[in-house]
Amino acid sequence: MAVLALNCPDIQVTVVDINEIQISKWNSSDLSQLPVYEPGLSEIVSQTRFKNLHFSTDLEGSIKKADIIFISVNTPIKKQGIGSGQACDVRWVESSARLVSKYSTGHTIVVEKSTVPVRTGATVEAILTSTNNQSNLDINSKSFDVLSNPEFLAEGTAVNDLQNPDRVLIGGKSEIAVNVLEEIYLNWVSKDRIIKTNLWSSELSKLSANAFLAQRVSSINAISEICEVTGANINEVSNSIGKDKRIGSRFLQPGPGFGGSCFKKDILSLVYLCEHYGLKKIAKYWEQVISINDHQQERIFKIIVNNLFGTVSGKKIVVLGFAFKSNTNDTRESPAIFICKKLLEEGAFLLINDPKVGIQKISEDLGMSSVSESAKTKNQFEGGWDFSHNLDDSFISADAVLILCDWDKYKVLNWNKISKDMRQPAWIFDTRDVVDESQVQSTNLNLWKLGKGSKNIQTDFNSL
Ligand code: UGA
Repeated sequence: MAVLALNCPDIQVTVVDINEIQISKWNSSDLSQLPVYEPGLSEIVSQTRFKNLHFSTDLEGSIKKADIIFISVNTPIKKQGIGSGQACDVRWVESSARLVSKYSTGHTIVVEKSTVPVRTGATVEAILTSTNNQSNLDINSKSFDVLSNPEFLAEGTAVNDLQNPDRVLIGGKSEIAVNVLEEIYLNWVSKDRIIKTNLWSSELSKLSANAFLAQRVSSINAISEICEVTGANINEVSNSIGKDKRIGSRFLQPGPGFGGSCFKKDILSLVYLCEHYGLKKIAKYWEQVISINDHQQERIFKIIVNNLFGTVSGKKIVVLGFAFKSNTNDTRESPAIFICKKLLEEGAFLLINDPKVGIQKISEDLGMSSVSESAKTKNQFEGGWDFSHNLDDSFISADAVLILCDWDKYKVLNWNKISKDMRQPAWIFDTRDVVDESQVQSTNLNLWKLGKGSKNIQTDFNSL
């Protein structure tokens, strides 16, 4: 909405939320307080806020005035009931639709921005037009069109993705309503990038795009494991296959597995949809993408333990990066959570650093507070963790460094100095291709890089 406000100065944009704390943070004069860290976002908010971008908790007043309403709420995986663990929980989409139905006046275009299961548009329409939600007086005075306009931005590059989208997708029955939304995007997106489809194609395209992207990550991660045992190098393989125009070079970076709020949820939602329609084989096919992702995280944990002589108990491991990727403060489904929890269960002491994720968030995600001062003085570090405020001092007496995100500051670490701080034999486990091997060669550090086979590896191919 900030980018929309920036590109359409004649349109008044109001972001409403029932959460007063979040809204007050969005209104905070201190731009470092914005709830979401996204490169370039605070600059746009400061340019547009209080002019044509507003943040408010006044749902009734804002809905009354609106000509177009974007429903942009959470659609997490259901935790209980039918479809638990797989189906999307659309309760907030539903409750938003009820509010719109109740408070709107005249004609309103309702746009699904949230990623939703296919055919949610029908539910939204049914709720909007249900007379239960409206007083009798209203029935003839209000009308709605429902559109689907899924969002394809990725966190960390959101501003650029929105400013220069590969495509904008608008699905809906009413040609007039579709054209109204198209007009808005035409303020900064060229016409050939705007795709108009039916509602269901638009909803399914979003899920499918994420499933294809996640599949690429699982595919390259599966190849990374083959590289490690054969002596092939994942960067060379990735580069070679990416040069094929049909494959393309993007989304071929191996890593600790995909995280974020979208990929896992959307594939599970696709799997649930397949099962709903009795498409068991198709459901199994997509499930495999998640299974490889789980496997990647599990095997990284095992590689660390194996290389540290089969035990990490009481050993100090510095963890670099806790968000699900760099340039975001989002930790949802971050591979760091699973890997850190497993290491803590094994008795390791973790010193965790992340430029944008704070101690409070890490405590919530790990389900345990950082080690207390009293424990520290008694040297009771086993199975505990602490936040690394000062990266320079973090490596003292560490047995290993685990790199889970490729934040720029991790790319310029002085490994020569670090190697002198660490306890020998010391290890670096690099899951994001951050460490320059030539810088480590002159030190006494052992380096394991994801997807890099050892030159000396012996594989008995006849026994395979
Ligand atoms: C993803 C899609 O890329 C967006 O197009 C979509 O709009 C968004 O989901 C959504 O549904 O809202 P996002 O989850 O923010 O965006 O981030 P990605 O850049 O896609 O990364 C997802 C995960 O895959 C990260 O953990 C990342 O580290 C991992 N990844 C990505 C790799 O391991 N290798 C790659 O080559 C690319």
